[in-house]
Amino acid sequence: MMAGELPVFDPDDPEQAPEEPFPLFLAWLTRAVEEGVREPHAMTLATVDADGVPDLRVVALRDADERGWTFATDAGSPKARQLLGQPHAALGFHWREQARQIRVRGVVERADAETAAADFLSRLPASRAASLVGHQSEVLREPAELPRAFAEALARVETEPDAVDPQHAVFTLRASTVEFWQGTQGRGHVRLRYRAERPGTRPWTRERLWP
Ligand SMILES: Cc1cc2nc3c(=O)[nH]c(=O)nc-3n(C[C@H](O)[C@H](O)[C@H](O)COP(=O)(O)O)c2cc1C
Repeated sequence: MMAGELPVFDPDDPEQAPEEPFPLFLAWLTRAVEEGVREPHAMTLATVDADGVPDLRVVALRDADERGWTFATDAGSPKARQLLGQPHAALGFHWREQARQIRVRGVVERADAETAAADFLSRLPASRAASLVGHQSEVLREPAELPRAFAEALARVETEPDAVDPQHAVFTLRASTVEFWQGTQGRGHVRLRYRAERPGTRPWTRERLWP
């Protein structure tokens, strides 16, 4: 792709728009990585709180397959508490360099402790330490406490390399809709939505949407 040129997405080409959304997501993600899109794994996660008020933040995609989109966080964080109370959620990717957007809506399930431990132990020491520090989104009354807590956590990771943070939680979003949006130089943006009757189930219905 030349600078300034956008990918062309033809949803009528079965090679480009398979019957199910996951292979298309993987093809788009692979291309985003190959073409140097910045932070292609960063996705916006939208949740709702106990009052039905929406919230959102960016998280990192840890894994994805036919069963869903997986991310990790602190089990005590606002997002985790929101998801445990109301499991409906949405994810958004925006790959600006390619004028691409992917939206996923569905229901989130928390993975078991073994899966969370494996995810935790696959991380670099600094990332494990950050997780062990904990208290995500609590008020930091004394900012000098943070480097101290981080240094302590890092020392623990070094002396106990098998230590797992019990608060480390992994969630997978099982999709009920997945929409692929391709911007064009004109205004004829191309949108293709896959829709399932129930989250995480087949078959998928494919529909073009007005831009
Ligand atoms: C690029 C990027 C990646 C991030 N990845 C994660 C992540 O994987 N897990 C996480 O808990 N927070 C991640 N964060 C921080 C969240 O956006 C957020 O600040 C934090 O999780 C607290 O959210 P909450 O108060 O809604 O629970 C990331 C932030 C950015 C900008």
